[in-house]
Amino acid sequence: MTKKAGRNGSGGGVLGIDIGGSGIKGAPVDLKSGKLLSERVRIPTPVGAKPEDVAAVVAQLAAQFSAQFPDTASGPIGVTFPGIVRGGLTLSAANVDHSWIGLDADALFTRAAGRPVTLLNDADAAGVAESRYGAGAGVPGVALLLAFGTGIGSALMNGGVLVPNTELGHLELAGREVEPWASGAAKDREDLSWKAWGRRVTEYLEYLERLFSPELFIIGGGLSKKADKWMEYLTVKTPIKPAALQNEAGIVGAALTASERKS
Ligand code: BGC
Repeated sequence: MTKKAGRNGSGGGVLGIDIGGSGIKGAPVDLKSGKLLSERVRIPTPVGAKPEDVAAVVAQLAAQFSAQFPDTASGPIGVTFPGIVRGGLTLSAANVDHSWIGLDADALFTRAAGRPVTLLNDADAAGVAESRYGAGAGVPGVALLLAFGTGIGSALMNGGVLVPNTELGHLELAGREVEPWASGAAKDREDLSWKAWGRRVTEYLEYLERLFSPELFIIGGGLSKKADKWMEYLTVKTPIKPAALQNEAGIVGAALTASERKS
């Protein structure tokens, strides 16, 4: 732990929670600096990742952090979800249980935690965080974040403003869906070298260049830590940066979005 959280909404101490396929991670975030105010707490994602079970973990993290940081006890919580989120409803479930589809997950989590919860897509949260505090800070035009992990998440940012739910990992390229072919999981499953994986990702990025003409690609997800391994193999014209906040980006972006929610 580095220091105590500040008051809610006054630039510090908003809780962010990142729901992933294998772990649910949370920490309070100092919104001035975009840094975590304490170590992340990670709880394994309940088997099957069913909504009620995941909500119980969200409630557990909320309770744990309000005991540790009383100042944050009644404030908003930002939560990421690895699928489409619109108006608090979860609308897709590529890598989690199908019972999430059409669920009012925002209301479920708000009930479970007893505090206002703001839900958004995991890659969108990372895009928001990178634009404010990280690799995309100060980019005036379009920056496209791609998060390579179990799936491929995307966040389309324009001058720091998010266009939510782009889901560009599910694009088709040469007759196949990109996600199962170029994700981090695909690299592991097929035991691809960095060079072979980099060739696939380059093909994908060239396609995205044709569609969006971005100023910058930000590569996030678990692989962002290993940029020295893959950077040389991504040979597109657009500048590429690894995500600066690495695996904290989801937590930070969720907290930031919750703190800025208007209604
Ligand atoms: C989902 C996206 C998510 C990405 C990363 C994809 O399968 O459709 O919503 O952002 O995985 O978790």
